[in-house]
Order: sequence, then structure tokens, then C-alpha cells
Amino acid sequence: MPTKSSTNHYGTVAVTIHWISALLIFTLIGSGFRASGMEDAAAAKVAILQVHVPLGVTILLLTLLRVIWWVFADKKPRPVPMPTWQERSSRAVHLLFYVVILGMAASGIGMMVLSGAGPVLFGGSSETLPDFWKFLPRVPHGIGARVMIALLVVHAGAALYHHFFKRDGLLRRMWFGTG
Ligand code: HEM
Repeated sequence: MPTKSSTNHYGTVAVTIHWISALLIFTLIGSGFRASGMEDAAAAKVAILQVHVPLGVTILLLTLLRVIWWVFADKKPRPVPMPTWQERSSRAVHLLFYVVILGMAASGIGMMVLSGAGPVLFGGSSETLPDFWKFLPRVPHGIGARVMIALLVVHAGAALYHHFFKRDGLLRRMWFGTG
């Protein structure tokens, strides 16, 4: 399977970035809600955020790499035939994914910088974690999380609809192999 995409199949780089991003986003949503439901003094909250924060920075870097890849190196396959409104909605959802991922990463970094939680998570400080709600970026981070879930439902729902009802190979072309 070629590195770059063809007119009817995504290449290995695009497929790899897509599924690693999906895994990271599911882990980030799970760990984020788990952490936010805990007492600030809980040791488990520190442990969860010690994973959440590096993964959040990783998805940021991976998304920047994805943008660079599409702008400079690769071209998307042709859309499978579908009504214009569906094609437009799918483009809007894809664009919104970029906006929300970058917004979540920016607000996450903003929370860390403003609250000074870095040393508690990564510097061996034994202080209690701050109340992140005292810092403005916590609000868009919470809203973004819910928008992200809505986008995931629409995106995965559309992919499954194409796979099981339309049977047009849309999901298969975002997997390894040329099938
Ligand atoms: C796409 C990337 C990210 C996703 C999907 C994500 C997801 C989440 C979710 C779902 C929550 C819980 C929201 C709520 O309860 O309202 C959360 C909380 C949090 N996230 Fe993220 N996050 C991301 C990136 C980041 C980054 C880059 C950082 C830090 C550099 C970060 C730091 C935090 C912190 C400190 C909390 C607050 C926990 C609390 O309120 O106790 N996140 N995140």
C-alpha cells in the first residue's frame, strides 16, 4: 500500500495518523472526564493528568503534522458519490475536528500555564493540584470536550452508515491495504 493517497484510497501515512488520532482522542476524553470528576487532592487525579497532558500535547503535534502532510505532500481521494448536503456536512465536520482539537490543546496548555500545575504534575512538587475552574481556559476546554463528542458521534455514525447501508467502501479506504 503506497505512502500517499490515490484517487480512491488513503495512503499509509494518512491512515496511520487517522487511527492514532482516534485512539488518542478516545483516551483523552476518557481520562479528562475521569480527572475532572475527582477531588483536587486525590493522588489518582495527578496520575491521570500525568498521562492526559502529554497525550494532549501529542495530539496537537500529530494534528500539526497532519495539516503539513495534507498541504505539502498528499491529496485526498475523490469523495464517494453522495448528495451535496452530505458532502458539505462531511467537509464541515472534518474542518471542525481540526478547530476543536487545536482549541482543546490551546485551552489545555493555557490552563497549565495559568494555574502553575506543571510542577505538581511533572516537577515532583507535593502541593495539591489547583482548582482548574478558577482559570478561564477551563470553560472552552469543557465546551470543546462536548462538541468533540458530538462530532465523533456524527463522524462515526456517518462512516458506519456508509459501511453497512450504502456499502460503498468509504470506511475500507481509511484502512490498510488497497481493497
Ligand atoms: C484534543 C486534546 C484534548 C482533549 C480531547 C481533552 C479532553 C478533556 C476532557 C474531556 C476533559 C474533562 C472536561 C470536563 O469535565 O468538562 C479535560 C480536562 C482537562 N484537560 Fe484536557 N483534553 C485535551 C488536551 C489537553 C491538553 C493539551 C492539556 C494540557 C496541556 C489538558 C489538560 C486538561 C486539564 C488540566 C483538565 C482539567 C481537569 C479538571 O478540571 O480537574 N488537556 N480534557
